[in-house]
Amino acid sequence: MQKDYNSAVLVAGHNRFELYRQEMKKPFFFHPNSAAYRMKRLLKGGTDPLIDVSELKEGDSFLDCTLGLASDSIIASFAVGENGRVLGLEGDKDIAFIVEKGLQTFPTSLEEMHDAMRRVVVKQINAISFLENEQDCSWDVVYIDPMFSAPIDESSNFTPLRQVGLLAQLSEKWIEEAYRVCKRRVIVKEHFNSPVFEQFKFQQIVRPNTKFHFGYLSKV
Ligand SMILES: C[S@@+](CC[C@H](N)C(=O)[O-])C[C@H]1O[C@@H](n2cnc3c(N)ncnc32)[C@H](O)[C@@H]1O
Repeated sequence: MQKDYNSAVLVAGHNRFELYRQEMKKPFFFHPNSAAYRMKRLLKGGTDPLIDVSELKEGDSFLDCTLGLASDSIIASFAVGENGRVLGLEGDKDIAFIVEKGLQTFPTSLEEMHDAMRRVVVKQINAISFLENEQDCSWDVVYIDPMFSAPIDESSNFTPLRQVGLLAQLSEKWIEEAYRVCKRRVIVKEHFNSPVFEQFKFQQIVRPNTKFHFGYLSKV
């Protein structure tokens, strides 16, 4: 069908949607990715680097500008609980559709996982356009994980996402708007030697032996 119609193909399977863009050998589909083990670690009393850097707590609001597979949004949703709010923005319409459906229907026996996934609200929009229309200080934490500027190697779980996702380029405008809209912190996730940390004056949290580091801009 890809060849016949010279088009991407979205397969509506029994349990999930699968997207095959042209040239893709493996499809893009929803799965909670790292959220599963991260949540189990939190449930056992452990920590999570995103929760630590964002200082998220029960009742907070978390705006995820780059939803992707929503693993970070799921963990944030668990941290803020049912009185909090998590909105995930996704610029690519196919990813937004598949991930929104997946969050609502993915089967899991872990109640906390089930509830955290179902509470994430998805909106298909370019993050900068969305931020431009938000009031000052309207979200406790604004999060950006563009990641695609990093070299691609072993993270095979992410390969289909990298093939379909928008190529995000952090810009002055994006950071400026995120800072205006956040109440407490803007968090960015980037390759450890990315120039972004210095360029935008993010406080980089160095985590030995990890390729991706978080950085934050604090308002308070
Ligand atoms: C690296 S992924 C994010 C992964 C995510 N943190 C997770 O836990 O799965 C980046 C995502 O952001 C999306 N994206 C890139 N630029 C965007 C923009 N300006 N507005 C909205 N979404 C964007 C891409 O399509 C991609 O799905």
